[in-house]
Amino acid sequence: MAVLGATGAVGRELLAVLERRGFPVTELFALASARSAGKRLPFGGAEVVVQNADDFDFGTCNILFCCADSDVARRFVPRAIEAGCCVVDNSSAYRMESDVPLVVPEINGDEVRPPLVANPNCTTAITLVALAPLHRRWRMQRLVAATYQAASGAGAAAISELLSHTNATLKGSRPKPSVFPRSLAFNLFPHIGDFVGSYTKEELKLEQETRKILNEAQIKVSAFCVRVPVVRAHSV
Ligand SMILES: NC(=O)c1ccc[n+]([C@@H]2O[C@H](COP(=O)([O-])OP(=O)(O)OC[C@H]3O[C@@H](n4cnc5c(N)ncnc54)[C@H](OP(=O)(O)O)[C@@H]3O)[C@@H](O)[C@H]2O)c1
Repeated sequence: MAVLGATGAVGRELLAVLERRGFPVTELFALASARSAGKRLPFGGAEVVVQNADDFDFGTCNILFCCADSDVARRFVPRAIEAGCCVVDNSSAYRMESDVPLVVPEINGDEVRPPLVANPNCTTAITLVALAPLHRRWRMQRLVAATYQAASGAGAAAISELLSHTNATLKGSRPKPSVFPRSLAFNLFPHIGDFVGSYTKEELKLEQETRKILNEAQIKVSAFCVRVPVVRAHSV
């Protein structure tokens, strides 16, 4: 099994889940960019050495969890499928493609099929775990959601920036952001991703992914997504 993006926020969480659940991993390959090659990550009471994904032979594993951004996913997912891997992709690269199932296991796990499964944006996943049973019973027609999203949703560098900016702000300095558009310490932004018309990309993901996962093209969704100075755990 390989985890591409093993050094990131999602990749590290995935390693922890595999370990906690005792998932039967014969051999684990931790992949990232050349920047992280040679780093060591704890796994299963030992350590795995991170490899540069560019040099990896995907024919040596059966399952790839892709935990990198969509450009990186578009580069490596076809290569892994070509080599015979089943791929679970966390990025937005393939989510809306008609021949790729978009799956939240608790809702539509029966749609999983090789060679590629996408999983949704974090906010869509947690919102629908709560709403899908209600939808099945009463047929939801319209969803109006406000989300309060933690730094973790923007990746490992965003968590570090929030922590360091919080410390610096408490000491009286005004640190310059490099991940977020403004410092997130003691702040919030009603704006995640670029605007497309009057909604942001993050807000549109909740609309489009909800329709696909619930298989209901008519549901009306209006979302308002806010980034808040919380390390992890989103609220909806
Ligand atoms: N964070 C969340 O809550 C969340 C939720 C749902 C979905 N997602 C999606 O999951 C994906 C990963 O998010 P994240 O938050 O974990 O991001 P992240 O913390 O920034 O991690 C990105 C990972 O991708 C690797 N990477 C970057 N460029 C690469 C390259 N050229 N070749 C190989 N590996 C490369 C990085 O390795 P290096 O260490 O070498 O830079 C790192 O391991 C994104 O598509 C995101 O949209 C995230």
